[in-house]
Amino acid sequence: MAKTLIIGACGQIGTELVLELRKKWGNDQVTAADVKEECPSVLANGPYVQLDILNRSAVREFIIDQQIEHVYLLAALLSATAEKNPAFAWELNMEGLFTILDLAKEGYVKRIFWPSSIAVFGPTTPREMTPQYTVMEPSTVYGISKQAGERWCEYYHTKFGVDVRSIRYPGLISHTSLPGGGTTDYAVDIFYRAKQSGKYTCFLKGDSALPMMYMEDAIRGTIELMEAPAEKLSIRSAYNLAGCSFTPEELALEIRKHIPEFEISYDPDFRQAIADSWPKSIDDSVAQKDWGWKPVYDIQAMTKVMLENVDPSRLQ
Ligand code: NAD
Ligand code: SER
Repeated sequence: MAKTLIIGACGQIGTELVLELRKKWGNDQVTAADVKEECPSVLANGPYVQLDILNRSAVREFIIDQQIEHVYLLAALLSATAEKNPAFAWELNMEGLFTILDLAKEGYVKRIFWPSSIAVFGPTTPREMTPQYTVMEPSTVYGISKQAGERWCEYYHTKFGVDVRSIRYPGLISHTSLPGGGTTDYAVDIFYRAKQSGKYTCFLKGDSALPMMYMEDAIRGTIELMEAPAEKLSIRSAYNLAGCSFTPEELALEIRKHIPEFEISYDPDFRQAIADSWPKSIDDSVAQKDWGWKPVYDIQAMTKVMLENVDPSRLQ
């Protein structure tokens, strides 16, 4: 079993990925790393190291000393936060990727997972069932950084044989860890507010359809991709992956099946323009064909499990 490091482990995806990989490979095999001084208590069952991905020499020293072979690089600024600080978003989202790609090129790291996003697409992309290969003119700094990252991943694979694997995640919905600054995060907040007060004001318009995915599907897809035989993978930029697509109105209707008095209102902000530039739904047939991807959760199953599990006392 390869020693594994997850950088950005305290975030929405990292928390659940660490727990799942530790279940699979043993707690000691999977080290969680994040810029935060302390890790959440839920990750206390295994090793944790405070690491800043922008500190290239510290990251290199740790990975080489600890003989880390698999790296999941999750540290990044997401779409909404990145728009507020474009220069830093570019630095954070790109520099760390080069550090890890170079470690793989030098033979230290054997396999990398680096997440891309539906944000690689832009206003000129076909928005319904967006294909794997299509026009890509992202209009956000986040999308530009993800698109550039995809190109570099493919380049390092083609030129240097680096085994890097990636998914264009849709908006991810989960209850273990709060999300960190995305345009799709309304689809998480809404469950906390529905349980807390029965009311939610959405920062997107009611008819803004976006591709979404329940976290359990995303984690399973990530691990399946990382375990797929290399010869099955035709894509070394990033795979399209679909879960379920819906609008805020459709999600509110689904929540009302469980909380009939739930009320939603709309007060769109700068995130509306970001959502308007992204696909409404995704064609993931290449991932299905290459490594057998299939989502389990639809909007009904996802809503039920979210309402059963979100704990509104965690909101400030
Ligand atoms: P998040 O914001 O919840 O977590 C990011 C983590 O990275 C945080 O714990 C943060 O402390 C850590 N971090 C920030 N700067 C760091 C640094 N300098 N060094 C080390 N760690 C640092 O993000 P997430 O939702 O878990 O997303 C993880 C990855 O997946 C990102 O690359 C994101 O772009 C991508 N992604 C997420 C979604 C989604 O809906 N959550 C969708 C598409 C792509
Ligand atoms: N969920 C992410 C965001 O909204 C998509 O990459 O930023």
